[in-house]
Amino acid sequence: MPQNRRPLIAGNWKMNGLKADGQALAKALGEQMRAESDPVFDMLVCPPFTLIANVGETIDGSGIALGAQDCHPADKGAHTADISAAMLRDLGCQFVIVGHSERRTDHGEMDQEVKAKAEAAQASDLTAIICIGETEHQRDDGKTFDVVKTQLTGSLPNSSDSSNTVIAYEPVWAIGTGRTPSNDEVQEVHALIRDGLSQALGDDQAAAVRVLYGGSMKPENARELIALPDVDGGLIGGASLKAEDFWAIAESCT
Ligand code: 13P
Repeated sequence: MPQNRRPLIAGNWKMNGLKADGQALAKALGEQMRAESDPVFDMLVCPPFTLIANVGETIDGSGIALGAQDCHPADKGAHTADISAAMLRDLGCQFVIVGHSERRTDHGEMDQEVKAKAEAAQASDLTAIICIGETEHQRDDGKTFDVVKTQLTGSLPNSSDSSNTVIAYEPVWAIGTGRTPSNDEVQEVHALIRDGLSQALGDDQAAAVRVLYGGSMKPENARELIALPDVDGGLIGGASLKAEDFWAIAESCT
């Protein structure tokens, strides 16, 4: 976590929370953030679509950013039940997660579609958080580097830069399992991603793009993960649903 990249602590609430839950969580985080005079991190929450407007109102003015968990590649049209990047922007979102492994698995999303979604996000002035990561099987077969590199190259729009793009490395086998790669394993994949960004976007942009780690990040392991040279924060699932835990993770940046 070098000085030139401000850590981003991002909560992916996934398909969790009814109105009262979302509001309570957002309120607690908003109060914490308002009480922080000079936070050294950026904080982001990505509620389910149903809660975005409500959470947005609750955190308004707190300094916490608002995001969504997916968008459609088109800006409008006959796409029943889908949501466009422009609609998210209109609700006050600044970020959108694309290509999460749960989207890749549950909805068969491939790199090309993820890239199109990231392009749509960038075109609507949203920062795309592009998720990549290997399955357990791929890791066991020694294919982690190949998979991560291929997903990065295939999912990253040419229009990407440090202002409109964040990469999240999420080993699929670490998501929601309580297991994490060793610090060395995390750092080596993040360094590989940084190298891939250099090839795609040039050294200056690669040095400025934030690369988050995601997968069973919690207060107990956040400090050491975020301290790794090429880790610039976290994309947090389970632990982002408890204000106390999510805040403790953010405090690990200090
Ligand atoms: P967990 O933190 O629950 O492992 O989830 C990580 C994740 O998928 C964030 O996008």
